[in-house]
Amino acid sequence: MRDNKTSQAASEYDANVHKTLPRYHLFLTETLDLVKTAMPKPEAWFDTGCGTGTLILQAIECFGEMKIVAADPAEEMLSIAKKKLADYQVTYMQAGSEELVCTDNFDVVTAIMSHHYLSEELRKQATKNCYKLLKQGGVYITFETIRPTSRLGMQIGLERWQNAQLLSGKDTAAVAKHINRYGIEIFPITIQEHIDILREAGFSTVEVLWVSCMQAGFYAIK
Ligand SMILES: C[S@@+](CC[C@H](N)C(=O)[O-])C[C@H]1O[C@@H](n2cnc3c(N)ncnc32)[C@H](O)[C@@H]1O
Repeated sequence: MRDNKTSQAASEYDANVHKTLPRYHLFLTETLDLVKTAMPKPEAWFDTGCGTGTLILQAIECFGEMKIVAADPAEEMLSIAKKKLADYQVTYMQAGSEELVCTDNFDVVTAIMSHHYLSEELRKQATKNCYKLLKQGGVYITFETIRPTSRLGMQIGLERWQNAQLLSGKDTAAVAKHINRYGIEIFPITIQEHIDILREAGFSTVEVLWVSCMQAGFYAIK
């Protein structure tokens, strides 16, 4: 049985994430780059669905120590994050974004590839919670697997993702197993639906940050 909702065990996540998400490193560098411009001196950062804590580590290296909360529903992910971030002061919460208790204390909230397991209603709740966590003017950044708007677009997108995974060193059976999760274990939505959910949550500025193949990044300002 898996110990979290991703396609791999927490202990294997860091070594293998690039095989599932070949552009994974760009999700993190694009996030940090956006924060450098939109919120150059963040004093408080909440990372929900923090996984093994890689983004938080990079955020500390980039912006220095600050108030940090890292949340994830998977205990095994959090325990790796705790080891990775042992030198730093970080508060941990074992919870999904949809169940967070929110105070508007944060300059930056991030949710990188953590909401596509949720139903439409819970995804809306999760996004609202991220909004509530932010101070006025704070920035929310999220990356997600997306759903193309046409049947052909879907076919092409999934085939490109499949090929990218094979080129990254994943074996054929594992690629097929992963791609078969689409629509069954993960529930991606279109770019427009992302924008609508962010606007509905109350964000005043909503923008696409990055798009490639089957993933996209968005930023939104409260
Ligand atoms: C693909 S990993 C991404 C981890 C990390 N954000 C990163 O960029 O490496 C997805 C993470 O989302 C977490 N997750 C699953 N359901 C979630 C939920 N409802 N809310 C927040 N995170 C969730 C999983 O436990 C896992 O750690």
